[in-house]
Amino acid sequence: MKAMAKSTNAFTCTACGASHKKWAGRCDACGAWNTIVEEAPLSQGPGRGLGAAKGRAVPLSTLLTTEAPPPRHLSGMDELDRVLGGGLVPGSAVLIGGDPGIGKSTLLLQGAAAFARRGLNAVYISGEEASAQVRMRAQRLGLADAPVRLGAETNLRDILTTLDNERPDLAIIDSVQTLWSDQVEAAPGSVAQVRAAAHELVTFAKRKGVAIFLVGHVTKEGQIAGPRVVEHMVDTVIYFEGERGHQFRILRSVKNRFGPADEIGVFEMTGAGLAEVANPSALFLSERGQPVPGSAVFAGIEGTRPVLTEVQALVAPSTLASPRRTVVGLDSGRVSTILAVLEARCGIPFAGLDVFLNVAGGMRVNEPAADLAIAGALLSAREDSALPPEAVLFGEISLSGALRPVAQAENRLKEAQKLGFSQAILPDSQKVEGAGGMSVRRIADLTGFAGEVFGAG
Ligand code: TYD
Ligand code: MG
Repeated sequence: MKAMAKSTNAFTCTACGASHKKWAGRCDACGAWNTIVEEAPLSQGPGRGLGAAKGRAVPLSTLLTTEAPPPRHLSGMDELDRVLGGGLVPGSAVLIGGDPGIGKSTLLLQGAAAFARRGLNAVYISGEEASAQVRMRAQRLGLADAPVRLGAETNLRDILTTLDNERPDLAIIDSVQTLWSDQVEAAPGSVAQVRAAAHELVTFAKRKGVAIFLVGHVTKEGQIAGPRVVEHMVDTVIYFEGERGHQFRILRSVKNRFGPADEIGVFEMTGAGLAEVANPSALFLSERGQPVPGSAVFAGIEGTRPVLTEVQALVAPSTLASPRRTVVGLDSGRVSTILAVLEARCGIPFAGLDVFLNVAGGMRVNEPAADLAIAGALLSAREDSALPPEAVLFGEISLSGALRPVAQAENRLKEAQKLGFSQAILPDSQKVEGAGGMSVRRIADLTGFAGEVFGAG
């Protein structure tokens, strides 16, 4: 094997973080255009290479521990505490990503105030807004009396010195893209700066036991601007999402070293800041009126919590050679697969038809368990026949058209019953231990579903 070459990778793609040896217009790794930027390579002086000098032996230990799990701090904002994995872990680093204007600063100001009112020493450093602006927002949100300490700064070295002097329990850095370090020769917001700032702050968090929240804006492609590398550095990655036109905001953990990922917290943006939504199912279903064709209620699980959502479909004759497939809030690959299974296994064609699919309320659903509800909405729209309004659906569809069981059926049924539904349509093979008062309608495969429920196929 060839000896390891000295690293000459000095170009990085800002979209995917891939390293390249030379500049190119298009990144081979992710296919994005004009995202590759030059970065100063790591200095490799003599003695830095492997084997040149002997390292220190690191003491190794067993997996046994007598230590209790780290104590957690609760903010009292249940939706936030749940997404953090059951409260904030001291010394942890949390990245909160989201589109500009979605409400990240509002959320973290409210969060900081909640923690501070419970006795934590909280510091909020804004690099985007002047202190006066943040104070005005705090006043509008009724938080002016919370003992949060506020600073406006973008210089990384000054921020670290301040935090080192103050030793708060938690620090909020809004945003990581505004920070700059004088040790890095690159503009603020560049990959190199974001990476260096995040690295310094995360290291500081671990060493000094200060929990750090980093705010990160998301690019058009949906990634935290600049490098994905920040996501690898932190303990917890949370996205704050929502449609600009809707008031609902969903906080979703996509990675958490201290708790389950895919946990969601639901908020509503009001004139007085973000209000917690304790019962999201009621919120997502509130727009339902009379039974309409094309609507199916999915009994889903988000993280540890059951959530009902409404899948809506519209199917209309198309004038286009390749008809439209517009999907919002669902995985479009999954939808294509279900359409193909309906065509190939059930003989129900969608050729020549435009298909629009949507999850009501700006929610996003990624569970394969939603397959049956998607198929239900599609068939209901195509056959112009409403599903029973008292029914919820769940089940995964395999490529053969068979229905497969999903996890946590009981929790799904319990939530559906709580919200006034009385029937569940689910896979034949699904084990259900106690359906409560729900009547269960079992379906073996997609052909059976189309025939029994819609008389189609
Ligand atoms: P902000 O927290 O500044 O977003 P981000 O930090 O993610 O860029 O939120 C900005 C939006 O929220 C802004 O368009 C106004 C709206 N908003 C309200 O509707 N109510 C409020 O009480 C506050 C503070 C903001
Ligand atoms: Mg902001």
